[in-house]
Amino acid sequence: MIAFFLCPAGSIAQSILLPVETDNNALVLQVDNNKDLRTIYLGRKLSSGSGYDQVPGLYRSGDYTGLLNSAYTPSGSRNLAEPAITVTHADGNNSLDLRYVSHQSAKISDDISLLSVLLKDPVYDFEVTLYYRSYFKEDLIEQWSVIRHKEKGEVVLHKFASADLTLKAESYWLRQYHGDWAKEMQPEEARLTHGIKTLDTKLGTRADLFQPPVFMVSLNKAATEEEGTVLYGAMEWSGNFRVDLEVDPQDNLRIIAGINNYASAYTLAPNEEFTTPAFLYTLSDKGKGTASRNLQTWARNYKLLDGKGTRLTLLNNWESTYFDFDEKKLADLLKDTKKLGVDLFLLDDGWFANKYPRNGDHAGLGDWQENKKKLPNGISSLVKEAKNNGVKFGIWVEPEMVNPKSELYEQHPDWVVKQPKREEYYFRNQLVLDLTNPKVQDFVFGIVDDLFSKSPDLAYIKWDCNAVIYNAYSAHLKNQSHFYIEYVRGLYKVLGRIRAKYPKVPMMLCSGGGGRVDYAALQYFTEFWPSDNTDPLERIFMQWEYSYFYPAISSSNHVTDWGKQPLKFRVDVAMMGKLGFDIVVSRLSPQDLTFAQHAIDTYNSVKTTIWQGDQYRLADPVNNSVASILYLNEAKTSGIIFNYLVNNRYGAGSRSPIRMQGLDASKKYRITEINLYPGTNSSIDAGKIFTGDFLMKIGFNPDVNSGRTSVVLQLEEVK
Ligand code: DGJ
Repeated sequence: MIAFFLCPAGSIAQSILLPVETDNNALVLQVDNNKDLRTIYLGRKLSSGSGYDQVPGLYRSGDYTGLLNSAYTPSGSRNLAEPAITVTHADGNNSLDLRYVSHQSAKISDDISLLSVLLKDPVYDFEVTLYYRSYFKEDLIEQWSVIRHKEKGEVVLHKFASADLTLKAESYWLRQYHGDWAKEMQPEEARLTHGIKTLDTKLGTRADLFQPPVFMVSLNKAATEEEGTVLYGAMEWSGNFRVDLEVDPQDNLRIIAGINNYASAYTLAPNEEFTTPAFLYTLSDKGKGTASRNLQTWARNYKLLDGKGTRLTLLNNWESTYFDFDEKKLADLLKDTKKLGVDLFLLDDGWFANKYPRNGDHAGLGDWQENKKKLPNGISSLVKEAKNNGVKFGIWVEPEMVNPKSELYEQHPDWVVKQPKREEYYFRNQLVLDLTNPKVQDFVFGIVDDLFSKSPDLAYIKWDCNAVIYNAYSAHLKNQSHFYIEYVRGLYKVLGRIRAKYPKVPMMLCSGGGGRVDYAALQYFTEFWPSDNTDPLERIFMQWEYSYFYPAISSSNHVTDWGKQPLKFRVDVAMMGKLGFDIVVSRLSPQDLTFAQHAIDTYNSVKTTIWQGDQYRLADPVNNSVASILYLNEAKTSGIIFNYLVNNRYGAGSRSPIRMQGLDASKKYRITEINLYPGTNSSIDAGKIFTGDFLMKIGFNPDVNSGRTSVVLQLEEVK
């Protein structure tokens, strides 16, 4: 039941406090006498729940504007810092002031509360409602705003942030990410200096590739896994985003996050509402590990599609066949799928288009009819054939894109994003369809719907996205400045329709390389593709960084032929998330095949701990020769520890014990090595029993060395 408490402006005596409290933290807003709404505190909550009103008096003042800690900084009036919102009113005036009018708090569930605060301009009929949805147990807040007006004409929004936070500390340390194809999630950490640091993207179709919409900021010193205060932030938007981190003259850190306003001035009609996407953040004073576990738990509980559910292991044919396959080859691959022991066969790119067959990446995209030469009996017969083999069948699509060499392009040139008077410019020989156009939305929805109508047993979709938007222009839209925003809204409309009709079919969010994952998209997808780079050594580093923000169950990790490591190493690394294969099974040696089959059985027996357990990063791959990570079940009775040699220098290995985290100090545990390669023996003595206390204070040596480069350990409570 939702309970509302309304506090109209008239009932304010002097100033009112609006604390948003979670299990450990408090975000405290204050309405002052001037009715400005400020953030006066964001940090560990006070045990008494009161006293926050004394906080502002403890800081040296000298804010010329009275707005530096505004909860939603307007521009054009008193403000001198980076604004959250900038507008041009219907009469051409550029000034905005926002004062508190009222607020409402609602309890949505035992865990979730919602605070909304209405702000209005005293001069113009213009208002913003700020929303704060807090998740008590997960220490997480989602924040967004709704903008509307009743002016006599249209208002132009030049900036429209989701959230505007103020943090106070001696220094701020930003951990940000950059990347490119096959080099996703490269971390950089540095102290923020005064001025503005902007993290953003302008790619149109996706948030990530060069810069993902996630970051962390440590206060006072760079946080470690177990120590320090750190805030994780993420924009829930699958297109252009922008996060400004401004260290202001008062040494506050202001974080202003939202849709990127780049080329996106938004014209708002009277009474129309502009709802921003949410910005989410979680704060921990116990280091990165706690923040990460809170975020992952929240994701599984509330955001990721089927986050508490199960997933399918699979064999993908992309790297074994590329575009070169036919029914015969696929029939063999279906048999291999069964032989390997995974749940599903995933048919990748190349199964469609006839006039311009999809035999390479230069033609056919957009023509979603089965290629008659390769698949004379269509997809439905393959789905049946899969069933006969006792496996499920999944399929690849890239429905938002088109090759100029396609019937779709010939028939609907006006459905394509391109500048009418300029030369076309391609990303992987393709262009993007104009998802702002409802007819294109119908078309894209129809591709998926058609596949399911013809083959109701279809069990999985890999949704790819291999282009960015160049020459942004829509033949459908009247106002081109709305293009980037309407593209993403159009995408969500399509995904919403798909999910309304097919609520739980697993779908992988893929992008020519990683680079599309974000928490808005993940409400429609069960998993994402972190990178085309599946070299396991690279993946240890990449998956490590992704793991701060996304749960293991959402990370599609495929065993391929990338890298120089033996099969065991590759499989162990892929097991750290959602396991898949993209190899030629028939070319595996008998021993490798036996290993892979047993590894899949092992994975099936421990996958719940990997998918739903808590992650403890024990030794990171950057500063250590051995990387180690523990997945521990909620009851702390069972865990899996993955250990890898990440340094090939002479004598490198686990010379000293690796300290565990998160265990129950009073429990006793046995440690056994699992996933051994056939014919090898473990050097770990499974007869020994350790207390949790011992393992957390002294640790355990997984005995990783050049002869044992990858070691998987199972930890079990002994009663
Ligand atoms: C890019 C993906 O990342 C690959 O796995 C594969 O699906 C290709 N696209 C197909 O074109």
